[in-house]
Amino acid sequence: MRILVVGGGGREHALCWAIAASPLCEVLYCAPGNAGIARDAECVPIAADDVVALVEFATEQAIDLVVVGPEVPLVLGLVDRLDAEGVMAFGPCADAAMLEGSKGFMKDLCARHDIPTAAYGRFATAEDAKAYIREKGGPIVVKVDGLAAGKGVTVARTIDEAFDAVDQAMNDQVFGDAGAELIIEEFLPGEELSFFALVDGKTALPLAGAQDHKAVGDGDTGPNTGGMGAYSPAPSLTPTLEDEVMETIILPTVRGMAADGYPYRGVLYAGLMLNEGRPKLLEYNVRFGDPECQVLMMRLRSDIVPALVASCDGTLETFDLRWSDEAALTVVLAANGYPGTYEKGTEISGLDKAAATGATVFHAGTIADDGKILATGGRVLNVTARGTSITKAQARAYAAVDAIDWPGGFCRRDIGWRAVAQKR
Ligand code: AMP
Ligand code: GLY
Repeated sequence: MRILVVGGGGREHALCWAIAASPLCEVLYCAPGNAGIARDAECVPIAADDVVALVEFATEQAIDLVVVGPEVPLVLGLVDRLDAEGVMAFGPCADAAMLEGSKGFMKDLCARHDIPTAAYGRFATAEDAKAYIREKGGPIVVKVDGLAAGKGVTVARTIDEAFDAVDQAMNDQVFGDAGAELIIEEFLPGEELSFFALVDGKTALPLAGAQDHKAVGDGDTGPNTGGMGAYSPAPSLTPTLEDEVMETIILPTVRGMAADGYPYRGVLYAGLMLNEGRPKLLEYNVRFGDPECQVLMMRLRSDIVPALVASCDGTLETFDLRWSDEAALTVVLAANGYPGTYEKGTEISGLDKAAATGATVFHAGTIADDGKILATGGRVLNVTARGTSITKAQARAYAAVDAIDWPGGFCRRDIGWRAVAQKR
């Protein structure tokens, strides 16, 4: 098959790495890719959100399967446009991508189909939002409706903090149009968990569980990021809990979306809170998590390509995937300053030494320049290793991290701490 992966981060590097290993893959392109992806795929200089150019490339190059990594092209309708041209594409159509593109759409779906989630209200004016916050009190959560690159959520301890978040979104318009509507919701305490399933419009196949570390600093301190590291399996995702998540959250969503006229295909990523022992849905993403995808791909033993095709053509029901018994853990190396402003163009060396330890280094934000590897993004490398336990995978990942010489970057030193503390 001739395959095109869309995106240029660590998630797309892991997808390219897994797809390139498939005997079904004859030619692999990635748009735009990065310096690490260039080892596994031919990189094409088209931006991930340039829908017109991507469709043109896919038709001209007679691509058999397009795999869309990030949410923005999905929400912009890339899959609809590829469908119209007869090109098979992995990922939801624009209507179904509203599960991530509009938090209000997602919450209303939950309300219609009885899916457990935090109690909420939707508001189009600051005045109404504040009246609701005053009535409910703190702690309370303020979310902008639209896409905000993971930055549109404020967990407010007090009414004043919540009011500030409302003013930023509605008066200062920090998030532009994405903040024109707000969702105010009940604060749910508990442990967070990422749950992934492949979906083909009618049925869903659960993937392995993973846990992410959102805060920038050790001990889960400091501002939130896109994710500083992840590991799989997630010890708290027991088989009983997995069944409950499938029965009460994932399958009602798949059936509800089909019944409402927006059949969902692609990967469904549920952000869950284990609240008083019960899973509740915090958010849906319509793509793989980044960096969760990296640990899932490291543990996947089956060929990924037939699974992606089954999601596209509605044949997941008879499908099964095999996973390694080993754990996988990834550490994100980010540019100094991230998630605030950070320096670009700093040189990274020691990547060969890191690979020689047996770890796999996925690239998230790099370019090759005159034989050197330079950092171009906030999150730059994902140093990923397997082990017979999460603790062993962690030791191997950090041994590889220590082989990398990059004064311009940093990482958390405690990825996997919760599992390691439980001697997992
Ligand atoms: P989201 O993008 O909706 O997942 O929110 C980002 C982060 O905010 C989540 O990963 C949680 O840590 C936190 N969060 C979101 N909603 C809630 C909630 N209702 N209660 C507690 N924490 C939340
Ligand atoms: N790791 C969180 C995300 O991909 O949204």
